[in-house]
Amino acid sequence: MNGIEILGTGSYVPEFVADNDKFSEILDTSDEWIFPRTGIKQRHIATDIPNYYMGAQAAKNALENARFSAEDVDLIIVSTCTPDFFYPAMSCLIQKLIGAKNAACFDVNSACTGFITSLDIAHSSLAAGKHKNVLIVSSEKLSQQVDYTDRASSILFGDAAGAVLVTKSDKPFYSYMGAEGDEFEALYCKANYNANCPWYGNINEFYKNRFDTPQKQNYLVQDGKAVYKFAVNAMANAVKNAVKGHYDISELDLVIPHQANLRIIEKATELLGIPSEKVYTNIEHMGNVSSACIPIALDELKKAGRIVPGMKLCFVGFGAGLTYGAAVMEV
Ligand code: UT7
Repeated sequence: MNGIEILGTGSYVPEFVADNDKFSEILDTSDEWIFPRTGIKQRHIATDIPNYYMGAQAAKNALENARFSAEDVDLIIVSTCTPDFFYPAMSCLIQKLIGAKNAACFDVNSACTGFITSLDIAHSSLAAGKHKNVLIVSSEKLSQQVDYTDRASSILFGDAAGAVLVTKSDKPFYSYMGAEGDEFEALYCKANYNANCPWYGNINEFYKNRFDTPQKQNYLVQDGKAVYKFAVNAMANAVKNAVKGHYDISELDLVIPHQANLRIIEKATELLGIPSEKVYTNIEHMGNVSSACIPIALDELKKAGRIVPGMKLCFVGFGAGLTYGAAVMEV
C-alpha cells in the first residue's frame, strides 16, 4: 500500500479580527443577516504582513510540531490563489524564510480545493519515490482580492495559513479530483497587469466587456447562488468517488470540509448521510480562508487531541474553477 502519513501540522492566524459588527460599520449588513445564512461570526485579516509570511509561519509551526529540520524537507508545495507575486512561486519565498534549502518548490492553484490537490500530488510523488518529506503549505490572503463594497462576497472571506508535513507510509490514501471549467465565471479574480505592449489590439476591451466593469476587474467576483448550488453536489460526489471500492461512507470517522458556508456543509453531509458529530467546522471563528481552511482545521483538531491513531479522515472541498475534490486517509 502506497499511502501517506502526517508527521506534523501547523497554522498561522493573524491577530486582527473583523467580526460581523465591523462589517455593519462599513456596509449595509448585520450579524442577523450574516450568521444564519453562512455560520460566520468573524474572520481574521493580515493587516501588516504579506501572504508568504503567514505561510512561512505555518510551515515553521508544522516542522516544530513534527520535530523536523527544514533541511530534511525535499519538496515544498504551496497552494494559494492569492499570491503576493505572479512569480516567483510563493513556495520559493517560504523556502527562503524557513531555510529549507534542499527542497524543490512549486505552487498549486486550484483555489479553495488547493490543499486537497496538493495532498494528491504529494501522495503521487511519495508513492513514485521521487520525494521523501513533503511540506504542504496552504496560505491565503483573500483580503487583497475582496471588494469591501460588495456585501454579498466580502463578508465570507479571511486570511490565514495552514501547513502539513507528510511522508510515505503503508496506511491507505484515496482521492478524487474534478473540475467544471464551463462554470468558471461563477467565481474569479482577473489578474492585474499594467500592460503597455505597443502592439496590443482590443484585448483590454475584451476583458472589460467580458468581466464586469473596469474597476471590478481585479477583485474577487462571485455569483454566490451558482457557487452554492454547485458546491453541495460537488462535495457529495467527491466523497462518494474517493471512497468508492474502498470504504462505506459510514466507516469515515471524521470529515473535515472546506469552510465556505455552514449551510453548504450541512446540506452536502446530509446528502451523504454523515451525522453532524462526524463533521468538523471552524467557520464561525475563521470564515472562509480558501485552501487554508482544511489544514488549519486539521491543526486545531490535532492540538485538541481529537486525531486518534486508526481514524479514517476525509477531506473534501470545492472552489473557483470550478474545482472539487476529496481525499480519505487513515492516520
Ligand atoms: O470557497 C467558495 C466561496 N464561495 C461560496 O461558498 C459562496 C456560496 N454562496 C453563498 O454562500 C451565498 O450565495 C451567499 C451567503 C454569498 C449569499 O446568500 P444569497 O442568499 O445567495 O444572497 P444573494 O446574493 O442572492 O442576495 C439576496 C439578498 C439581496 O437583496 P435583494 O436584492 O433581495 O434586496 C442581497 O443584496 O440579500 C442581500 N444580501 C445581503 N444583505 C445583507 C447579500 N449579502 C448581504 C449581506 N447583508 N451581507
